[in-house]
Amino acid sequence: MTPHLEARPGDYAETVLLPGDPLRAKWIAETFLDDVRQVNGIRNCLGFTGSVKGLAVSVQATGMGQPSTAIYAHELIHFYGVKTLIRVGTCGGIHPSVKLRDVILAQTASTDGAMNRIALAPFEFAPAADFGLLRAAADAAERHGVKAHVGGIVSSDLFYGPEDRYRVLTDHGVLGVEMEANTLYTVAARGGARALAICTMSDCLITGAALDAASRQSSLKEMIALALEVAAGLQA
Ligand code: HPA
Repeated sequence: MTPHLEARPGDYAETVLLPGDPLRAKWIAETFLDDVRQVNGIRNCLGFTGSVKGLAVSVQATGMGQPSTAIYAHELIHFYGVKTLIRVGTCGGIHPSVKLRDVILAQTASTDGAMNRIALAPFEFAPAADFGLLRAAADAAERHGVKAHVGGIVSSDLFYGPEDRYRVLTDHGVLGVEMEANTLYTVAARGGARALAICTMSDCLITGAALDAASRQSSLKEMIALALEVAAGLQA
């Protein structure tokens, strides 16, 4: 039991998938895991544990944004011994090379948020994905014909904001924008855990195009399958 998680010690698997949306966590658990039980309901930020082909896996919603994500990642690592955290989410596209439905494996995550500045000043920490997870995800994507880009994203605190604000990042090769990965990588690094953010590009900030509901659902399925294959590889 922590301030935000009511699970008992041992209730979470060592590997946890982290969607932002609680109902997506429920959907992932019900769709992909066997022997599922709910382990968290505080604030309706739902968490579940089950198994995939004999491997124990949990799914915990993080809510939106970096402070919320940092709280769940910290508590999972420090109170429940979680070792591997895989974010599964959507992102906005900010680079012409990334098309709707493409997957981004976030090698690194820049940010406009202040959390790392507060914790790490005077340094500008450079959060990075765990290389083993990144490589496993890139290999799995190639095996399954999933178009995956390996590169940088940005975790922004602004969902609504000035148009064209990501232009300078596009000019530096940044591929997508979401709101969580930078702190996930930082908290994992601080806790000696490994982390990876896998994002489906659901809306293109350059063209204004967005996935319809059906494509969104099928692309999410593809991404979760990828994340679970990475998780399964950890026990091999
Ligand atoms: N901004 C931030 N996060 C997102 C977006 C976006 O445009 N699309 C999907 N997640």
